[in-house]
Amino acid sequence: MWQTCYTPQSLDETLQLLAEYEREACLIAGGTDVVVEYDRGLRSEKVLIDISRLPDLDQITQDDQNQIHLGPLVTHNQVVHSSICLDRAFPLAKACWEVGAPQIRNRGTVAGNLVTASPANDTITPLWALGAKITLQSVQGSRTLTFHEFFQGVRKTAIKPNEMIVDIAFPAMAGYQVGTFLKLGLRRFQAISIVNVAVVLSMFGDTVTEARVALGSVAPTIVRAEDAERFLSGKVLTKDVMIHAGELAAQTIAPINDVRGSAEYRRYMAATLTQHALETLAEGTEADMVPPRPVMLWGKTDGHFSSGLSQPPRIIHDEAADQPIETIVNSQPHTIHGANDKTLLRMLRENTRLTGTKEGCAEGECGACTVILDGIAVMSCLVPAVRAHGSEIVTVEGLAQDDDTLHPVQQAFIDEGAVQCGYCTPGFLMSGASLLDECPQPNRDELKQAITGNLCRCTGYYKILQALETAAKKQAKSK
Ligand SMILES: Cc1cc2nc3c(=O)[nH]c(=O)nc-3n(C[C@H](O)[C@H](O)[C@H](O)COP(=O)(O)OP(=O)(O)OC[C@H]3O[C@@H](n4cnc5c(N)ncnc54)[C@H](O)[C@@H]3O)c2cc1C
Ligand code: FES
Ligand code: FES
Repeated sequence: MWQTCYTPQSLDETLQLLAEYEREACLIAGGTDVVVEYDRGLRSEKVLIDISRLPDLDQITQDDQNQIHLGPLVTHNQVVHSSICLDRAFPLAKACWEVGAPQIRNRGTVAGNLVTASPANDTITPLWALGAKITLQSVQGSRTLTFHEFFQGVRKTAIKPNEMIVDIAFPAMAGYQVGTFLKLGLRRFQAISIVNVAVVLSMFGDTVTEARVALGSVAPTIVRAEDAERFLSGKVLTKDVMIHAGELAAQTIAPINDVRGSAEYRRYMAATLTQHALETLAEGTEADMVPPRPVMLWGKTDGHFSSGLSQPPRIIHDEAADQPIETIVNSQPHTIHGANDKTLLRMLRENTRLTGTKEGCAEGECGACTVILDGIAVMSCLVPAVRAHGSEIVTVEGLAQDDDTLHPVQQAFIDEGAVQCGYCTPGFLMSGASLLDECPQPNRDELKQAITGNLCRCTGYYKILQALETAAKKQAKSK
């Protein structure tokens, strides 16, 4: 793991740190890729620069040139919640909705997704189809690159060690444009794309005047299906046209065989997904694929983490110097030593001895480690412990009230027998409690959305859903 963690509080300070440390430092935003990479031994930088609390960099705006701008700390859930993105950049909003699970989308940023640069990463494809550009900044100045210039291969980009992304910009879709994003994974959520496709069409009546078709997870970088684009231009979207456009798209790609699918399957599915994306656009049904009230698991917040500016201007947590982490856990102040190189999960279990939060996978997949950080549900195994400095955390031990009355979700799990070995239960309870905070009367679909990031290997999900439904009903009655 890292040894020293800086929490800069301005962009200038961050750029100075990047200039000072270059390859010896690792920038961390949501940490949903970086922490997994440290855990797997794929990273050896001793210095972590945590930019997640830089103020005002999590904004989505539209300028007077109709360019949409995403700040470098915009999370996937913020995109899904943004009316600008839903109305004027639907393919991106749809892709962000398909990323991981709510706890991952609450921390994971679009910028982090681009820099990781896996060809399977979901936001690259729609942003490529939307014609996005990336602005990089260092102490020497800034430069703006097209996606073609930025992406150089599998997990390879043009970013230099002293640079960071400060802006992602693309034209807002015009009223005559339609677009969507489709993803094929091995399951509905928490799944890496086997193939994904983004389509943006300019229309004149029923006729396509310009098409942009981008495909992901089928070549070392995202690819534009230029033959399909040329073919679609000037055509009405008849069944035959859509089938042929899919076939042309599949001819553009160079897929590999891997554990998720063979090259042959990917080629077949690239054609099918392209055709299906065109069908939904022809029918005007693309928006039906995002729920009207997507579950965020960000409770009563607006999904923006507070910047923690009440803290001293430059926070440096160095394991050798052992600066303490000052935090509030379950309403109790804590001063924690010896956790600067740990994850939040390990800090909670080993330093505060709150062992209710469980480690199932340590890589964001199972949700057993779910806690509420500043009002927002996160996977604590992917959060550096130092992120807790100046923050407030609620763990499963903090759900019950002071008089020991259980939280309605806890009580309902007992009443409905929604527990077997109990290992996953704290995570489900935290997700359930966060949902009820955000959405006091959830429907069945919303209950299911809330637990897409939580796995249970023994109970099965019927009783868990039943318990959540019972808790929601009880809570509604008591109000
Ligand atoms: C369980 C799980 C499920 C996932 N599901 C999906 C999925 O369905 N689809 C998908 O596409 N991805 C998925 N991911 C991957 C990950 O969540 C995304 O790539 C996420 O967007 C990364 O953002 P982050 O802020 O967490 O990045 P970090 O982990 O903080 O950083 C990732 C990389 O970006 C760099 N970086 C971050 N911000 C900047 C910046 N502003 N300037 C320069 N460099 C920067 C970091 O140094 C690092 O190299 C999943 C991950 C997990 C753990
Ligand atoms: S998601 Fe954190 S331990 Fe599994
Ligand atoms: S009750 Fe055993 S893993 Fe869920």
